[in-house]
Amino acid sequence: MRKLKNICALIMKELGKSDHSVNIVLTDDTTIHKFNKKYRNIDKPTNVLSFPFAEGSEDDLATLPIYELGDILISVETASREATQLNQSLIHRLNWLIVHGFLHLIGYDHKRSSLDAERMFQKEKELLIKINKKRGFHMMQLAINVDHVATVRQARGVSEPDPVTAAAICELAGARGIVVHLREDRRHIQDKDVYLLRKTVKTKLNLEMGANKEIIDIALDVVPDMVTLVPEKRQELTTEGGLNVVDQKKKLAKVVKRFNKAGIPVSIFVDPDSKQIKASHDIGAHFVEIHTGRYCDAVSEIEIDKEFELIASAAEEAYQLGLVVNGGHGLDYQNTSRIAALETIEELSIGHAIISRSIFSGLETAVRDMLNIINNAQLQRF
Ligand code: PXP
Repeated sequence: MRKLKNICALIMKELGKSDHSVNIVLTDDTTIHKFNKKYRNIDKPTNVLSFPFAEGSEDDLATLPIYELGDILISVETASREATQLNQSLIHRLNWLIVHGFLHLIGYDHKRSSLDAERMFQKEKELLIKINKKRGFHMMQLAINVDHVATVRQARGVSEPDPVTAAAICELAGARGIVVHLREDRRHIQDKDVYLLRKTVKTKLNLEMGANKEIIDIALDVVPDMVTLVPEKRQELTTEGGLNVVDQKKKLAKVVKRFNKAGIPVSIFVDPDSKQIKASHDIGAHFVEIHTGRYCDAVSEIEIDKEFELIASAAEEAYQLGLVVNGGHGLDYQNTSRIAALETIEELSIGHAIISRSIFSGLETAVRDMLNIINNAQLQRF
């Protein structure tokens, strides 16, 4: 409700109606069905119904001394189904339905004529673009994790393939950041890689790390463009879950403070969980990276939708707190599109899928294929 209230305030401001009031009722299919039957004689549920306080065209209404716009009724059940069909988050769909409902309240009506329908559609699009701009949304960027280039190198203990060369190819293909995880056990990336990358990366070097003293000292010496704090266990194959910030608030606050003092912004890798996001904000992190792993591992459609909604909602919450939101882990050529359509996420961090595909297609093609998925997903936002 808080997230929707903030969005409504922006819509009203954009429409020059900040001094007006409106009632928004979030309801279910049964209730909206009753209203649809009673007032429109349509015997089925719908997504949104608008009941203007006064009838008339946009110009007529503007002249009336009325500060009550009317009621907007939304079926969250239908909105949720539509969001799934359209590969959108529920909050995005509700946002669109609220805009649609508002435009009806101020006199737009797509049912009047095809010209009116076009006018309303254009206004909706214009309004959503403006709101997104106001909310500071940008095109989503791709940062590539080149750890697994080093994994192949370390398998032989030789000098090839070189993650530094890989990083340069990724950047030339359009990646906007390079990520490496300097693990305590040095299973893939080595200290010298990080120092070399600091000299060669032209976009942004993000050093992923556990919050342990040895690695913190190296990070403070290297001065990457940002660090991402992750939990690290020796036996794990890859990072298994988000960092538990709530339970380590004091310790992590000190680490974040040290990096902030050194001018290195900190991102914290967290599960899509409200408490972890709030705690990350409280301890002074600039970014959170939302763990997408459970969404990527989910098998049934119900589970995938549930995990996706958790990510969308957590990203919205983090965004509204003023954090810059990244996402990553387990993303591949099949599951990235849906996440890439979320406006609230600024950057995706992807490694294994791109490096795996590059064995067959070459690295440049693997990067460009992923960028195409991300860019196309964003074109479908409206
Ligand atoms: N983000 C974080 C915090 C990670 O630990 C990893 C894995 O190193 C990634 C993103 C990238 O995950 P993947 O290799 O599955 O794309």
